[in-house]
Amino acid sequence: MNAILHAILLSVAMMLIVVALNVVIAASIFKLINKNQVSLIPKTSSLSGPTVRFVSRRAVFSWISLGWAAFTASALSATAATGRFMFPNVLFEPPSTFKAGYPREVQPGRVDTRFKERFGIWLVHDKEPISGDVAIVALSDICTHLGCIPNWLEDAQKFKCPCHGSGYYKNGINFEGPTPRPLERFAISLADDGQILVDKNRKFQYEKGEWSNPASFLRT
Ligand code: FES
Repeated sequence: MNAILHAILLSVAMMLIVVALNVVIAASIFKLINKNQVSLIPKTSSLSGPTVRFVSRRAVFSWISLGWAAFTASALSATAATGRFMFPNVLFEPPSTFKAGYPREVQPGRVDTRFKERFGIWLVHDKEPISGDVAIVALSDICTHLGCIPNWLEDAQKFKCPCHGSGYYKNGINFEGPTPRPLERFAISLADDGQILVDKNRKFQYEKGEWSNPASFLRT
């Protein structure tokens, strides 16, 4: 609200300045005319009287037109600036809780990369390192070193960060490079319709013992 008020005040101030300039220009012209220093009527004789500079009507109207053009331009830009503040900056972010298909669609032993681009997760269907059960987990695609986005290398069977070379096993545990800890997991469960439900509002960190939390994996 303050921003809108600020924009309106700025617009009014700009218009007042331009109006004041127009008034000053017009007043100056009429003052010169009154003092007979300029005339809108061409002189017919130069034999007598003080020197009077002839200013054509066209020149006067050009100056006035210029002033009003400046006024119109400033009014339009002020209106545009005010209008811009009427619309908030909208950030289109994907939902933090989303459905990620049915468990049968995530093949055992595989890393499912379908949801990386839009939601920033990998679904991994494999042996869970803590319980030893086969489960599906939702791994974050954020490198735990400095936040770059690693890639899943199917041939090498590892996640590899392009920034400083950190590497993670398929289960998300780090084994090479400068990263000090494994990838993070997000909460995963089954929705009412049987689809996988991932909740990025809840994360689980291996080093804090949170991977043993049943909300961090989905037994299959
Ligand atoms: S940010 Fe990934 S290794 Fe540095």
